[in-house]
Amino acid sequence: MTAVEPHATTTDSGAPVASDEHSLTIGPDGPILLQDHYLIEQMAQFNRERIPERQPHAKGGGAFGKFEVTNDVSAYTRAAVFQPGTETDVVIRFSSVAGERGSPDTWRDPRGFAVKFYTSEGNLDIVGNNTPVFFIRDPMKFQHFIRSQKRLARNNLRDADMQWDFWTLSPESAHQVTWLMGDRGIPRTWRHMNGYSSHTYSWVNAQGEQFWVKYHFKSDQGIESLTQADADRIAGEDGDHHQRDLYEAIERGEFPSWTLKMQIMPFEDARTYRFNPFDLTKVWPHADYPLIDVGKLTLNRNVTDFHAEMEQAAFQPNNLVPGTGLSPDKMLLARGFSYADAHRARLGVNYQQIPVNRPRVPVHSYSKDGAMRIDNVTDPVYAPNSLGGPKADPARAVYSNHFAVDGDMVRQAYTLRAEDDDYGQANTLLTKVFSDEQRDRLVENVAGAASGVRSEDIRERVYQYWKNIDKAIGDRIEAAIKAKLAEGESEKGGARFD
Ligand code: NDP
Ligand code: HEM
Repeated sequence: MTAVEPHATTTDSGAPVASDEHSLTIGPDGPILLQDHYLIEQMAQFNRERIPERQPHAKGGGAFGKFEVTNDVSAYTRAAVFQPGTETDVVIRFSSVAGERGSPDTWRDPRGFAVKFYTSEGNLDIVGNNTPVFFIRDPMKFQHFIRSQKRLARNNLRDADMQWDFWTLSPESAHQVTWLMGDRGIPRTWRHMNGYSSHTYSWVNAQGEQFWVKYHFKSDQGIESLTQADADRIAGEDGDHHQRDLYEAIERGEFPSWTLKMQIMPFEDARTYRFNPFDLTKVWPHADYPLIDVGKLTLNRNVTDFHAEMEQAAFQPNNLVPGTGLSPDKMLLARGFSYADAHRARLGVNYQQIPVNRPRVPVHSYSKDGAMRIDNVTDPVYAPNSLGGPKADPARAVYSNHFAVDGDMVRQAYTLRAEDDDYGQANTLLTKVFSDEQRDRLVENVAGAASGVRSEDIRERVYQYWKNIDKAIGDRIEAAIKAKLAEGESEKGGARFD
């Protein structure tokens, strides 16, 4: 840093202060005075510095950048952000799910991959993960799932029993748990991992035709992972390993990038596809729906105030723009409510006026007042009105929202189709995608994680869970866990994998 003539310190109201170092006292050795408003401001402000951390995904960091369209996908979407030649500013935040704000970056866990596109039609947020699937398929179970990965009520410790209890009682988790226990369960850096919308979303083109789509952000740096042993070592040496790596790469001018590719399913295919294409525990095989290039996302600018630009960043899957939309995925529909609600609780009702969240287009909503409102509201404050206030324009607001559903109100799982099962794709990943060495590491990773389970009953379920995915791997996992128990390694406890 080059030395610059410093500004004179001021109070928060802009008046010059007399000292950065000394409180106002009666004589140098006397008591402090209540009229030292500057001291009080310093203490009071400090006491309010921390805001609640995000419930899941508390630990993370990110950067700003741009998204450039490199291919013509206008046949599938009318969204301005995806039209040929368009360049759009973005902010991205990577995160881990279960750990708290200060937790080590290298714990085994899915990574968040949240992108906000500041488009010319309002903000579009794709709030994805580095995995193409998820642990559950009904939002009723999400809260329970997250609690099972966090801490026990009685002693605030992480606990292998509750983690594996939940997973083994939720067989739909098998695909994601296989993914997590594989090499990609601990990325080397945030730069060396892909991002996936995971969910099926929808697009609509200028002719009003709708498509089902999945977003894949493929790392141009390549995929690199850490072994459990390296991750454990780094967790001790530098808990902020991933955050530091991204910051330093951008400072060096080594701007990481991802190629956005889409899987696109014609609207009608969804009715007859061999499994439910909205089930978040499944991928669409590439052979059925190949990846189509869209553009390039590049991160080129670090944040300058982490609190203002990262802690206060608010991503929400319901931030959609014309030409895009949700899908009948129950998880996604629930997320459409959950995030904005979390932001109102964590940041306040006017969180969209915080600069990092503010759209780059004029806002003409009828929202008004509330804590920490920044923008002035102008009359009229109601609609319909005859006073020239904003008026909805359906011709511009073309979202994809055809679902075509019919039925009674029920509480039921998705209707099963021919290939709707919990273990098939997990088995493909394990037996067809992983190499022998990768399978060996998975056995070791599961054994390390699940040998901390104290309950005999849950351990039996762990063996069966893996045998349901693949008998041979299940047998190896059972043998490996029993061997560790015989060696007395279970004393380590079980929170190594998250
Ligand atoms: P493909 O052979 O076309 O794709 C296999 C995919 O697996 C590639 O995307 C590859 O990513 C990814 N992969 C490679 N190694 C690992 C690993 N250690 N952990 C996680 N993913 C890995 O087959 P399918 O499309 O038929 O899918 C087969 C299985 O691959 C699925 O059951 C799923 O588990 C997994 N997969 C599928 C994806 C999809 O969208 N279809 C996406 C990611 C995983 P890369 O090209 O970057 O090397
Ligand atoms: C963060 C809810 C599933 C990715 C969060 C937060 C909530 C939440 C409340 C904290 C938001 C905040 O305070 O800023 C849910 C619910 C889910 C669900 C209810 C299911 C019903 C998923 C899935 C993905 C995902 C399937 C990925 C595909 C993320 C990411 C963040 C996050 C990346 C962090 C965003 C950021 O960086 O600020 N989730 N989530 N979530 N979630 Fe989910």
